[in-house]
Amino acid sequence: MDKIDISLNINDKPFEVRVAPNDTLLEVLRDQLDLTGSKESCGEGVCGSCTVHMDDKPVRSCLTLALEAQGCNIKTVEGLANGDDLSDLQQSFIDHGAVQCGFCTPGMLMSADALLKSNPSPNEETTRKALSGNICRCTGYAKIVEAVCHAANPHDRCPDCKTDNNSGE
Ligand code: FES
Ligand code: FES
Repeated sequence: MDKIDISLNINDKPFEVRVAPNDTLLEVLRDQLDLTGSKESCGEGVCGSCTVHMDDKPVRSCLTLALEAQGCNIKTVEGLANGDDLSDLQQSFIDHGAVQCGFCTPGMLMSADALLKSNPSPNEETTRKALSGNICRCTGYAKIVEAVCHAANPHDRCPDCKTDNNSGE
């Protein structure tokens, strides 16, 4: 199968890659570009562990052909932090114990980041709905939802948070 050169932006940097027509975006990210934060679990669009943003919309990168990403802006979990500075959302996951084995975490973060961009102050129900396509086998979801809601509303009181902004700590 002839390979095709495509160009795309990933985490605000331009890339040129040579892809086969049936290469998925996930394969290109992980195998060609060493961006291994996005995880493959089901490989068939069910679990959400491979979620990235394509032109600001969350997509399953295991179901997205690399060719479809030609000319697009892709954001992966590696693009959330600013160097060593974690995003507020990432820090909230840590503070709330929302990471256990961590396999679902990159996809959860990308779905949650997309939610917070479209709705900066989601309630619990909205958050659960937005994350309903992401499967976690470890946490029972409560801590993940709490982490997202707290990142969105950092002044709300939260028993699990180490930095309660209401108390000035
Ligand atoms: S690996 Fe893509 S949805 Fe499960
Ligand atoms: S933390 Fe293990 S699958 Fe979610």
